[in-house]
Amino acid sequence: MSIQLFCPRGPGNEILRLPRTYRRSVKWLPQIGDIVPDFTVETTQGEIRFWEWASGSWVHLFSHPAAFTPVCTTEIASLASYAAAWEAGNVRILGLTGSTVPELQAWHDEIAATFQTEVSFPTAHDPGLALSRLFGMMHEKESRDWPVRKSFVIDPGLRLRMIFEYPIYVGRNTEEILRVIQALQLRAATGAATPSDWYNGDVAIIPDGMAEAEVQAHFGTSSTRLLRYLRLVLPWKADTREARAAG
Ligand code: BEZ
Repeated sequence: MSIQLFCPRGPGNEILRLPRTYRRSVKWLPQIGDIVPDFTVETTQGEIRFWEWASGSWVHLFSHPAAFTPVCTTEIASLASYAAAWEAGNVRILGLTGSTVPELQAWHDEIAATFQTEVSFPTAHDPGLALSRLFGMMHEKESRDWPVRKSFVIDPGLRLRMIFEYPIYVGRNTEEILRVIQALQLRAATGAATPSDWYNGDVAIIPDGMAEAEVQAHFGTSSTRLLRYLRLVLPWKADTREARAAG
């Protein structure tokens, strides 16, 4: 079923007529801020009940086309090589695809042997790609058979905090996944935003409404105004203070 539920408008307030096939169908499309639905899947590490497994951790839940395919192999190997970063950041990783658990297990073994990196996170079998459909991971014009490379970052309260989608023939960047999780964690811990091209430890953006005392409490230093609408702080000072206190 496909109906035009909304009337998008152009710059002159004119109604934009969508092609019939582009009209929004009546189904859930995951959005930032949604609570991720609970589900149960068979994985390379046994059955996972998602809410129980994910609650209290940051989660990178991602779809990929299939086991024993070239780009997917490099993505799994790269994610596996960041095991220490996931552990340090309280991040759990869960892959999702149509391949069976025995296939996924054999593939993980091959990746471990080839790249000298154990795949220590689970990947899950999605029978008939039903979950992939629910999560908007099937993009029929890209492929009718394979899910695209869709990533969700989910916070410890099971809320969706970031979504990105890559096509089948372009592998994701693990450093970018880590970078975004660290930015979301900084935001959750301090209320700070992160500028373009930010990396962990770089200057962060302080929202206008935050009192200077709160900036001091979070960062151990005061903010600086670069423009009347751009207020910055150096989070590394907070790290240094914590390191000094711990050491
Ligand atoms: C790949 O991961 O390289 C791939 C996946 C599905 C179809 C073709 C290639």
